[in-house]
Amino acid sequence: MAPNSKLNAKRKAQRESTKPAKPRTERHTLEHDKPLAISSIPFELQQLLLNIFRNAFAERLSSDFGPLLQEVKGHLYNRDFATAFGKTEYLEAYAARWSPSRALGYLELFWDLKEQFWRIEETDALDGERSKSRKVVCLGGGAGAEIVALGGLQKIMSDPDAASEGRGNDRKMEIVAIDMADWSLVVENLGKHLTAAPTLSKYASAAAKAANVPLINREDITMSFHQHDILETTTPEISTHLAEANLVTLLFTLNELYTTSLPSTQKFLLHLTSLLQRGALLFVVDSPGSYSSVTLNGAEKKYPMQWLLDHTLLKQANGNQGVRGQDEVPRWEKLKEDGSRWFRLDERLRYPIELENMRMQLHLYRRL
Ligand SMILES: C[S@@+](CC[C@H](N)C(=O)[O-])C[C@H]1O[C@@H](n2cnc3c(N)ncnc32)[C@H](O)[C@@H]1O
Repeated sequence: MAPNSKLNAKRKAQRESTKPAKPRTERHTLEHDKPLAISSIPFELQQLLLNIFRNAFAERLSSDFGPLLQEVKGHLYNRDFATAFGKTEYLEAYAARWSPSRALGYLELFWDLKEQFWRIEETDALDGERSKSRKVVCLGGGAGAEIVALGGLQKIMSDPDAASEGRGNDRKMEIVAIDMADWSLVVENLGKHLTAAPTLSKYASAAAKAANVPLINREDITMSFHQHDILETTTPEISTHLAEANLVTLLFTLNELYTTSLPSTQKFLLHLTSLLQRGALLFVVDSPGSYSSVTLNGAEKKYPMQWLLDHTLLKQANGNQGVRGQDEVPRWEKLKEDGSRWFRLDERLRYPIELENMRMQLHLYRRL
């Protein structure tokens, strides 16, 4: 075999191993709360994504990680987010501990919801020339789970087979992470590891060196970070990012916003509604059974997070509390919801510290 075809064969083998499985036709469990083990994301790609975290935070994970993590946990438990997210060691410990399993869980969601994502893009294509890039704005996304998940999604979608199935591998991805804490170093570090080949030992074989390529080509993805409190007045720069977004994510962040201030969160969601373009998606993931308290006429009442969200987007934004004015048309439709979904880690996956399965509620809306 000529050297080039050898290299091509190696690359093909690598692509094959990160190709997603055919969509599952069935996902059911006898007990609703029992975690499901099967993932539509190939094991090899999942391991590559965990390696991104392992390499990005190698120093943190090899030093005295336990006590540092205990300190972060303590501040999170006390809801002292300013301290928990107040210094680089804490941010890195948080990202190394909680973001890896979330990244895998989010990638599975992004992939399993591809019909919704691509159907929208096809519809948009009818309106004019298809955009060359997908823009994703991750609100509360500084800790990197959604960034690495989107990197994995871009990897899957840039597979030549995806192009032949009409999913278009020519589209680049622009990720904008917005968060009130200063996650800039974490985002930069993860971005570097997503787009650079891992450092190999000097004893690595020639074959390992030849197969050692970045997860994603640098030109296929861009990442930026903006430190901003989304419950404060939106700056022109943030408004522009939101106005251009194809997808906005609020992953394990909305309930925190509601807890900070329910009226400010509702105001922000309505402002987001006015900024987003037609066809843009809003994807919300959080812990199942999240509640927020509302005080009405002096009496406190608890509402489930998804009820508040539906109320704001499908009632308030869609036409004043459900009573439509003359020129009021619905501004959101709900594409998908699931009140309790498990992501279970494959037991073969390797990471320096123990990771956990996760259970989530998810909601996907489309701006009309
Ligand atoms: C529980 S963490 C979730 C991190 C990440 N999205 C994930 O799923 O792993 C919540 C994040 O939301 C951010 N956050 C909370 N309130 C915010 C606000 N008002 N504006 C911007 N970011 C906020 C926090 O700083 C934190 O990074």
